[in-house]
Amino acid sequence: MGISATMFARIPRRLPRLGPTPAAQRAISFTPSRRSDALFIHRDTPYNNPDIEFKFTPENLKKAQEVVARYPKQYAKAAVIPLLDLGQRQNKGWTSISVMNYIAKFLEMPPMRVYEVATFYTMFNREPIGTNFVQVCTTTPCMLRGSTDILNTTLEHLGGIKPGETTKDGKFTVIEVECQGACSNAPMLVVNDDYYEDLTPESTKKILDAFAKGEKPKPGPQSGRHTSENSAGLTSLTGKPYGPGEHCSPEFQ
Ligand code: FES
Repeated sequence: MGISATMFARIPRRLPRLGPTPAAQRAISFTPSRRSDALFIHRDTPYNNPDIEFKFTPENLKKAQEVVARYPKQYAKAAVIPLLDLGQRQNKGWTSISVMNYIAKFLEMPPMRVYEVATFYTMFNREPIGTNFVQVCTTTPCMLRGSTDILNTTLEHLGGIKPGETTKDGKFTVIEVECQGACSNAPMLVVNDDYYEDLTPESTKKILDAFAKGEKPKPGPQSGRHTSENSAGLTSLTGKPYGPGEHCSPEFQ
């Protein structure tokens, strides 16, 4: 339960002495409450309201039917995540109320169940995004490898926007995200569906410049190494692997 203003007013400025140590006399302190930048409350807006029609294109309709066919008939609603993803991709990268309502109808499930899924998983954007959706990982392994510089470089290079904002030309939206599962190639960021790893501020700028020009730079490590191999070269498994029975006691050979 939160502390209301009235309850706060009743808390004495100085607490009565609780014990012999000076620490016991410290007043209660509160950290400021922070609001998420993605509060999941839907309010109809001109660009996001149930009157805006949405339906799958014939091509996506076929894909959706294929996805649903993978599930037993009585569990068709288990396809809600792939179908929301399909709807989001068709809807320029974000999941509007109309997309959710359409999927609910498509899967014959209550709209509320679809809203619950779409607001739980961060892969669904509930607001429009730019053409290039940039997600900068700032979790500990990336942070230890310089993700603060990568985030700052990204934001400055895109005209000084803040996390959660979109550039004026609509080309980029940047958000800060938790671990993307590529820690061995930290620091990293994601642009749309691709990972860019082993980043430096310079390589980050190059990647952003390429996307700004409508190009798609090569995903993966930008340091030149192959996938997540040791950047110092092979240090193990350098010889021929021994065969079955080799090095075993004679009775086992
Ligand atoms: S911490 Fe950044 S990918 Fe894991």
